[in-house]
Amino acid sequence: MYPYGIEEAFAADAGGLELGMRLMLDPPRDRGLPDLGAPPVGPRESLNELAGSVLSTATRLDAPGFFAHMDPATPWITWVAAQWAARLNQNLLHEDTGATARELERRVIGVLAPIWGMDGGHLVPGSTVANLTALWTARSVHGIDRVVASDAAHVSVPKAANLLGLGYRSVRTDALGRMDMNELGDVASAAVVLTAGTTSRGAVDPLERPAAPWVHVDAAWAGPLRISTKWGHLLDGVDMADSVAVSAHKWLHQPKESALVLFRDTRTAHEAISFGASYLSDPNVGLLGSHGYAALPLAATIRAYGLQGIASWIDHEMALSLKLVDGIASHQRLEQLGSGPGTGVIAWRHTNVPSRTIQRHLVDAFVSVTVIDDEDWLRSVAANPFADPDHVIAAVLAAAERSN
Ligand SMILES: Cc1ncc(COP(=O)(O)O)c(C=O)c1O
Repeated sequence: MYPYGIEEAFAADAGGLELGMRLMLDPPRDRGLPDLGAPPVGPRESLNELAGSVLSTATRLDAPGFFAHMDPATPWITWVAAQWAARLNQNLLHEDTGATARELERRVIGVLAPIWGMDGGHLVPGSTVANLTALWTARSVHGIDRVVASDAAHVSVPKAANLLGLGYRSVRTDALGRMDMNELGDVASAAVVLTAGTTSRGAVDPLERPAAPWVHVDAAWAGPLRISTKWGHLLDGVDMADSVAVSAHKWLHQPKESALVLFRDTRTAHEAISFGASYLSDPNVGLLGSHGYAALPLAATIRAYGLQGIASWIDHEMALSLKLVDGIASHQRLEQLGSGPGTGVIAWRHTNVPSRTIQRHLVDAFVSVTVIDDEDWLRSVAANPFADPDHVIAAVLAAAERSN
């Protein structure tokens, strides 16, 4: 027989699994985080203990008052699929350790890559890694010596340039937060990074091809907008890119860690970033070694609702942004930076009370704070289908009152 504890830990315990599900749906009250140095309590009590703190005190991304960050509420099918992924623990590093998993990922990529005019790519844990992978590929294929991006580009872009030993130049943005293409300068040996949905205000750089050997579009946030028939035009031109980054764990409503790095010519790109090793059944493509089954929740979501289903969630969230924008406009003490819902990232503020003060005094609501041109702004991101713009506006006004 097995040593003590093996059976209990590794064989399926239907009752324990059911308990886990029940606790997830109906969390007990906060009991504080467990003391990990105390004697072990067994799996069911461990779940009970953790549920008391982890489940009941986590930030509720699906609460009506949460209109804050790019982290989405997730559809329940992904909760199940993510659990399957943990149970199977496939390694997509090579074919031997996850043939079906790899085939499913190929199918996911096969459905998603054409949305942005790309012919393939692979999954990575986030767009930070997607941006790095794309710029690494640009360096390998074209020997670029620097990266050029707008001053509103995500921090992962200069970080990638730094890691790759490439020069970095940032280009001024215009009044709408988009790269000023007149300031682009000489990019003959550069990779130009255009952002589709800047982090602070959701701006989309002009998606026109500059005279650079490599153009990467960082569509971490706004990429999925492309599948919306109503809003997809905001990404017109994206298919001129050599590579595109999209975070599935943002607007594709996936659990972390899930993102796509996509290429127009995937065969060349993947060859440039592949390394063989004696113990691998095929060359290792990209940055990651062992990596998991993010394709499974994504595939489950696509099969369940289709791309049009996901687009309808995004459309709904854009409608919530619009409602927030209208609410801001209708109140004298509130102002928005720019106008319209943009790509669902709204920068706004109270005219009398500093945004950080507002944030500190918020009750039962969440908005983020960002700095744009040296000024603090509240930021609301349309990633929660249950967000209630009226509730959030009322909470901000109440916070302003309370702070006086
Ligand atoms: C424009 C942009 N690019 C890249 C990233 C990094 O993506 P991730 O958080 O998936 O690594 C973000 C994250 O907010 C972003 O807003």
